Amino acid sequence: MSEQAGAPAAARLPPQHAAQGFDENPLGVLQEGHRQHGPVFRMMVDGAETVLVGTWAGLGELFAAERGQLEVLNTPLVHDLFGSALFNLAGDSHAEARRRLRPALSGRELPGYVPSLLEVMGPVAALWEQRGVGDLYTAVRALTGALSARVLLGIAPGETDATVFAADFERFVAATSVPPGWRRFTTSRYWVGRAARRRLHTLFGRRAHASAAGPHTGSALTALVAAFDAPERAGRLPDHLLALLIAARETTASLITWCLVELAGNRRHAVLAAAEAHAAMASPELLTRRDALPVLRAVLTETQRLHSPNLLSMREAVCSVELGGFRIPAGARVAYSPSAGHFDPEVFPQPHAFRPGRYLAQQERSARLRAFGGGAHACLGRPLAELMTLAVMASVLHRGLPRLLGSPPDQIRYRPAKAPLAPVALVFDSQEIAS
Ligand code: HEM
Repeated sequence: MSEQAGAPAAARLPPQHAAQGFDENPLGVLQEGHRQHGPVFRMMVDGAETVLVGTWAGLGELFAAERGQLEVLNTPLVHDLFGSALFNLAGDSHAEARRRLRPALSGRELPGYVPSLLEVMGPVAALWEQRGVGDLYTAVRALTGALSARVLLGIAPGETDATVFAADFERFVAATSVPPGWRRFTTSRYWVGRAARRRLHTLFGRRAHASAAGPHTGSALTALVAAFDAPERAGRLPDHLLALLIAARETTASLITWCLVELAGNRRHAVLAAAEAHAAMASPELLTRRDALPVLRAVLTETQRLHSPNLLSMREAVCSVELGGFRIPAGARVAYSPSAGHFDPEVFPQPHAFRPGRYLAQQERSARLRAFGGGAHACLGRPLAELMTLAVMASVLHRGLPRLLGSPPDQIRYRPAKAPLAPVALVFDSQEIAS
């Protein structure tokens, strides 16, 4: 793309921003870009020119313009591994797949998943209380894998399928990080991942068959099987299941990790949240009531704001589009950062401080967050991700208040989801809850 100085804004390309230091401090670079240029600018990301769209107003415009003009930019690798999964579909097929998947992941189905989540979480919380956690993110990642397997596939931790699933899912995940172009064919990890995918599809088929014979309680699988009995253009259920499992694990692990890290550094909020945790353990139905557990929910929301798990979501313009008054040509790479508007001091005073109290006093502000994206591809798993996070927080706070054994993590990686670079060790002070 080349600059066309002097042309009216709608005919001009967005301004160019120097993206120095993006790998070390991506949010800082994006914030500075929006400060200098407004909601839309161009920048190099991973060696390719990309149009960045951000700020609250910019994202609103992007999501409104999305249908028919922008498609999710997925690599050939993602197409190979995920087949007809939701994020590889476009247009009517995509809308139809969302329509079929959504009911099992939200609304009336959620209370039915609470006992399953607490059943998986119970022994883990007991172990953490006893021994502490040496590497929080790794432990939470394993936990969100187990929670997702239980809720999405009906696989409980002690079953033989749990071990089989965990091993093959790990092989599949490893294949998602091989070079995305033709070089993928030269790596053994890719082929190992493809073989794991086949075995996982067989496993899903077997679980789906069993669930049709006698519904799994506390799992979305029965409803999902019913929703995809005649797949047609809405994609295949095994592809969707792998997409849900992959979308759920890393991001939810990130959110839970940062909730616990922040609570460990904010004893006053941890004590208040622990009082609600006791109530939630006594009456688990509170976990799905939006008017209950205000402090836990405020911690959840403030952590979404400060530590959004996803750094960038990618699109490709399928035709020429106008955004922010600029012309985005067909074929351009477009990206948005869910948290680009989360640090606006006009909306969030002291934007870099962890202040859950802002949501206790001003509930409406949570509407200003985009951690779960928006528009045509807005996260379908948000209700489940929030429920999982609340269930984990309530289970562990019921047993003890988290305390970091070292200093708060200062080295962070932002992709595939925001996480501490070095292991974070945590213990739970149980005696303080009783006082
Ligand atoms: C804290 C946890 C999570 C975060 C922060 C998160 C964030 C996001 C974001 C930002 C998007 C939009 C991507 C885009 O615009 O291209 C997205 C899409 C998606 N998420 Fe999540 N997600 C989370 C958990 C989950 C869970 C638990 C599930 C499933 C059970 C899930 C399923 C999906 C799916 C299927 C999509 C693609 C939707 C589509 O393409 O139409 N996510 N998520």
